[in-house]
Amino acid sequence: MRETYQSGVIAEASKDALFLTFNQTHNEDALAVVRSVLAAMPQRVEAYRKRFPDARLHLTLGVGSAYWDRLNPQERPALLRAFPALENGERVAPSTPVDLLFIVRADQYDAVFDLGAEIVKSLEDAAELVEEIHGFRYRDMRDLTGFVDGTENPEGEDRLEVALVGAEDPEFAGGSYLHLQRYEHDLSAWQRLSVKQQEDAYGRTKDDNIEYPGDKKSPHAHTKRTSLKREDGTSMEILRHSMPYGDSQRKGLMFVSTCRTPEHYERMLTSMVEGDEEGRADRILEFTRAVTGAAFFVPSNGWLEQLA
Ligand code: HEM
Repeated sequence: MRETYQSGVIAEASKDALFLTFNQTHNEDALAVVRSVLAAMPQRVEAYRKRFPDARLHLTLGVGSAYWDRLNPQERPALLRAFPALENGERVAPSTPVDLLFIVRADQYDAVFDLGAEIVKSLEDAAELVEEIHGFRYRDMRDLTGFVDGTENPEGEDRLEVALVGAEDPEFAGGSYLHLQRYEHDLSAWQRLSVKQQEDAYGRTKDDNIEYPGDKKSPHAHTKRTSLKREDGTSMEILRHSMPYGDSQRKGLMFVSTCRTPEHYERMLTSMVEGDEEGRADRILEFTRAVTGAAFFVPSNGWLEQLA
């Protein structure tokens, strides 16, 4: 079913997004309602695409790792497992599992708004909304710390190769392992750093977004901590779809990774939080804190439709 993957797993960055998480309720018919909503979702997205032809509308619908067995006790994606909760002093990555995730995104907020509202309504008494976050493009695709985010993402066909499960798990081919974390930034502390100190924290320059040469990168630099290699020397890759969010109270990043295996993300997160063999951890985690963390599988559209 690789050809019927959900377009949001691969799509290029959008201008606006809505991140909706839900837990199924204990109503008698809740599971049956969820199954029918999920099965109808690919068609529903197609209808919205026709209604908003220029919006580049995408949906990414994920099923939580713990919820999976209630939704579909017969079969489970081979590598689907819980979010890896980590803690190292001030640096934390909590696990806050939820049952369902819908990421609606587009270049027009009205399209996002309408489809988001319909998703919430269709789940009615079957699922309660846990969190609703509006992500947006900030300037030229920058995180709110002021640095361009997403530069080293895979491009073109590589996006499919990195993000989609293939023949290694035929029943779930075209699906993807998704990790979601909401980070809250301490922007006042960040802004007390000089630009050079901020650049050192990422290992890239700020205005013109140029990567530091390898020998100039601190072991604590974010891009050092997340550029990992396997034993055979090949790079571990993920496809990131993160977006800034915020209001007058709180500001941060909705971090999203999709990949054909959960292992790459887990290894990167461990490298950020726990550091290298000498315990040198990611400097940016002194200025931003993960407050949620959840692991999902995003099945193909073909797989969703057979839930009917
Ligand atoms: C690179 C921001 C969390 C994985 C970057 C870059 C920025 C950034 C600005 C450099 C440009 C680019 O290539 O995109 C952030 C912020 C985070 C965050 C603000 C949290 C608030 C994470 C997490 C992971 C991760 C949790 C994975 C567990 C990566 C990877 C790269 C990267 C793989 C590319 C490294 C390279 O090849 O140079 N991030 N990131 N990031 N980030 Fe993050």
